[in-house]
Amino acid sequence: LKLKLLPQTEDAIDAAAQVIVDLVAAQPDAVLGLATGGTMEPLYARLVAAHRDGFSFARVRTVNLDEYVGLDPRHPNSYHSYMARHFFDHVDVAPENIFIPRGEIDPQCAAAEYSALLDRLGPVDLQLLGIGANGHIGFNEPGTPLDAPTRVVELLADTISANARFFATGESVPSHAVTMGTAAILSARQVVALATGGAKAEALAAALDGPVSADCPASYLRLHPSCTLIADRAAGALLH
Ligand code: F6R
Repeated sequence: LKLKLLPQTEDAIDAAAQVIVDLVAAQPDAVLGLATGGTMEPLYARLVAAHRDGFSFARVRTVNLDEYVGLDPRHPNSYHSYMARHFFDHVDVAPENIFIPRGEIDPQCAAAEYSALLDRLGPVDLQLLGIGANGHIGFNEPGTPLDAPTRVVELLADTISANARFFATGESVPSHAVTMGTAAILSARQVVALATGGAKAEALAAALDGPVSADCPASYLRLHPSCTLIADRAAGALLH
């Protein structure tokens, strides 16, 4: 694992955006594994800005990591909506090349369908990852083995409360998700993990300085042959 520790959040975001732009420039039909969450919002803003300056994503294929079970794609908190709002509505990715697990159908079917799709597309060329404050990657929560398949998962209480900030008060946060498994994530040709802000400092220290263990799925990234972890100073504050 290569660690790129940058002083400012903007520097970390720029560095991650540059990796994506460089890959798509070199390989216009790359399969990009995409993530959602607060960390990625400014990253998508950078990519949208690149598109406004003339950069094209017309031939990329995209696979998102996860989606909540039970949310219609049009629900404002679905990851379908998130991706449309922050990225797809503003760039030229072809709609038929956008893949996100389906939250609105039977979850076992959605997982099986997504797993088959990932097999068909072949390994992801560049997997973008955020890191949960509890060390999760995708929605592979602590306790997930290294070789977990793409599947339906139950979210842990701390993940549900971390994500509650995006939901209206009183609205229930989904308890389950369909997520790309650790096996698919780790089989990507290249991984870029991005962590910004002090809320990620403990997770980063566990991931990099602790044992490689299911207690912190992000620690599995150390086993990947081509993974760069990009972090700002706040997220890296507890690293040795
Ligand atoms: C999102 C995802 C999650 C997030 C993680 C960090 O698709 O799979 O693993 O990357 O929960 O979320 P933020 O960026 O909101 O702190």
